[in-house]
Amino acid sequence: MTPTRAVSPTTPTLPASTGPIPAGPRDQALRDRAARVIPGGMYGHMSAATLPPGFPQFLERGRGARIWDVDGREYLDFMCSFGPIVLGHAHPKVEAAVERQRVLADCQNGPSPRMVELAERLVALQPHADWAMFAKNGTDATTLAVTIARAATGRAKVLVAAGAYHGAAPWCTPRPAGTTPEDRAHLIPFAYNDLASVEAAADRAGKDMAAVLVSPFRHDARHDQELVDPAFARGLRALCDRRGAALILDDVRAGFRLDLGGSWAPLRVRPDLAAYSKAIANGYALAGIAGGDGLRDAATRVFATGSFWFAAVAMAAALATLDALEAEQGIQAMVHAGTLLRDGLARQAHGYAIRITQSGPVQMPFLTFAGDVAGGTFDRANVFTGEAARRGVYLHPWHNWFLSAAHTEEDVRLALEGTDAAFAAVRARFGGDL
Ligand SMILES: Cc1ncc(COP(=O)(O)O)c(C=O)c1O
Repeated sequence: MTPTRAVSPTTPTLPASTGPIPAGPRDQALRDRAARVIPGGMYGHMSAATLPPGFPQFLERGRGARIWDVDGREYLDFMCSFGPIVLGHAHPKVEAAVERQRVLADCQNGPSPRMVELAERLVALQPHADWAMFAKNGTDATTLAVTIARAATGRAKVLVAAGAYHGAAPWCTPRPAGTTPEDRAHLIPFAYNDLASVEAAADRAGKDMAAVLVSPFRHDARHDQELVDPAFARGLRALCDRRGAALILDDVRAGFRLDLGGSWAPLRVRPDLAAYSKAIANGYALAGIAGGDGLRDAATRVFATGSFWFAAVAMAAALATLDALEAEQGIQAMVHAGTLLRDGLARQAHGYAIRITQSGPVQMPFLTFAGDVAGGTFDRANVFTGEAARRGVYLHPWHNWFLSAAHTEEDVRLALEGTDAAFAAVRARFGGDL
């Protein structure tokens, strides 16, 4: 085993103990203030309350593959803001494009030329696309895609994989608080990669089937990820064609990390609509949908708008992000670093005789512990990621991780020093129960 070492000069060397880890003083002070003026102190998927001790809530800055919390602690970032940071934090070419656009204008009475340029860029990149529209968040994009499918077909029912996440609006949020049964009355579940279950769901929808909404692989939180069976993807295409429904690919999480042409382009399965957000503008707020000519008329008829949807800075950022991903072979860089990380974690777990599963594409990796899965808990993952965080490696216990094109071989080597100590802590804490 490699000895425990801090991964950066600002990260203290810590023993492999699993005692309570206090938040940093500035982080704690902000948490205390937030508790008074922000519901729950923080809400949503970035709430540190969902994470084991050792994770900061408030962050100060990011550069490349590194982030710093408000107490000045440095981390190698393997969450990349839950996906948006695909080139690395503050990528110079993206920041330069942002600055050029910012001095011209951002939010105006109409879009800037960047909107047309970006739509042209997406249409050129994506084999299925003849047009594109833009919004701000992934939920905007999935909601708009479903709305367009309904406008096109005049039907209501949407088939979705059970447990899949498509956003935080009432029709799709995983938490029912504040929603009505009517909000989700037209969703019909199927099992991912199980074509027979989709056929059964389509039978239930009957003549009212508007769309199938599906992610490019199964990446539900708290589950091992599951790559798509190409026959399943092709089967969905055929089923939608047969039933006159739209095939919507929710590429919000995976888009631009697997293939610039869309995550199912390598399978040659063309969706009618694809939804993007997260990585499209390297951290600037932008979502997009790209569709085929068959849905152009419906897309023209729906009322699609928002105060900030046409702001130019994020579109300039997206153009620069796509250029840099191509020019710097960003996807290949993520695959290279992700493969080193996966191989290193597998070696370490084997060395400690800890049974783990690593799943998903290496650019979006996930690791679970056999003991946790058997028990339905994330106890080992909490210890593992908490101990990694104290050593300056920012992972997540129950959500898939994200690589960026900024992760170097050296970053992975340093991260593996932290994970080695984290595996040692899991071994020490759980003994034979692994
Ligand atoms: C597959 C998928 N669809 C939709 C969304 C919603 O995106 P946003 O959080 O930007 O609204 C997410 C966010 O994680 C996602 O992963």
